[in-house]
Amino acid sequence: MSVSFGGVTLRHGLMLAPMAGATDLSFRELCRLHGAEYTVTEMISAKALVLEQGSRRTKVHRTAQLATVTQVEAPTAIQIFGHEPTVMAEAARLLASGEYAGAVSTALPVAIDINMGCPVPKIVNNGEGSALMKQPDVAVAIVRAVKAAVKLPVTVKLRAGWDSEHRNAPELAQRLEDAGADLLCVHGRTRQQFYEPSSDNRIIRAVKTAVSIPVIGNGDLCCAADVTRMIEETGCDGVMIGRGALGNPFVFREVCAALEHRPYTPPTMHERMDTALAHACDMIARKGERIALAEVRKHMAWYCRGVRGAAAVRNALMRAESLAAIREALQGLLEIDL
Ligand SMILES: Cc1cc2nc3c(=O)[nH]c(=O)nc-3n(C[C@H](O)[C@H](O)[C@H](O)COP(=O)(O)O)c2cc1C
Repeated sequence: MSVSFGGVTLRHGLMLAPMAGATDLSFRELCRLHGAEYTVTEMISAKALVLEQGSRRTKVHRTAQLATVTQVEAPTAIQIFGHEPTVMAEAARLLASGEYAGAVSTALPVAIDINMGCPVPKIVNNGEGSALMKQPDVAVAIVRAVKAAVKLPVTVKLRAGWDSEHRNAPELAQRLEDAGADLLCVHGRTRQQFYEPSSDNRIIRAVKTAVSIPVIGNGDLCCAADVTRMIEETGCDGVMIGRGALGNPFVFREVCAALEHRPYTPPTMHERMDTALAHACDMIARKGERIALAEVRKHMAWYCRGVRGAAAVRNALMRAESLAAIREALQGLLEIDL
């Protein structure tokens, strides 16, 4: 399994999935360090970015900040969502150039990714995210417009379809390829399914058969065995791991070892906790303790998943009001290990 598109080549095609509210810069850099070969920013509203640029009153460019990309995490795609081709194209142009108010990136994106998978009501009610799968003409117009606006590769993340009656990913994929898409990532669920029941690899295989651009498989990949199965069942060119990496950035090391037929040693509890603490410190350093704490608590709880006897530690983490309290709570995990 390997991926080449535009000027990007990924040895194993091993990607971190975008997850709004979870895959911020700190987490993306951490996953890169542990073997993810490619990252994608959290989804960014094309309209908010463009409006923010035009506003004289904007002092803090929050949308632009979300698009921050660093050399540590590169190669990175910036993901945008929206429903208006002209606005999507303008946002893509700004992001690809790196020249916009509020930009603090130390690297340029290597691709612009278009969100056609988000199932959240406030997004789909606007005709955006996975609602674009119900509007193939608009989806195609967006890809064409973005493609015309930037020299970078344009990629699309989509679902199996809208619902069980409309599993149109293979047909839409062909149209997106014709419109100029350079790579597709397919999550094997419909919008109606949100995140349950399990993702369907057959639809990913159908997309892979329908197009000649690289296809990335996504959905329910939590360990090397899941990835191997995905490759066998779909023939995909690469994989994207989302929830399976939360609290477990080591999963990329595990998958990498399996793909290279090397033995894998899971992290010790010490390494797990050192990683968690470094992750918390980095989030707080970037966002400030007051803003970062709620998100830090969420991530720290994920690091406790699957650890027997960690309920008390998790409770302490959930009550933690400072980095010092988080550090102290995490120490509790090391005691369980002994
Ligand atoms: C909390 C959360 C936030 C997400 N945010 C995004 C997003 O911003 N853009 C996107 O394309 N997909 C988003 N997704 C979908 C994931 O990228 C991925 O397609 C989905 O979780 C299935 O993969 P997994 O089973 O490996 O998690 C999100 C998923 C979750 C759970």
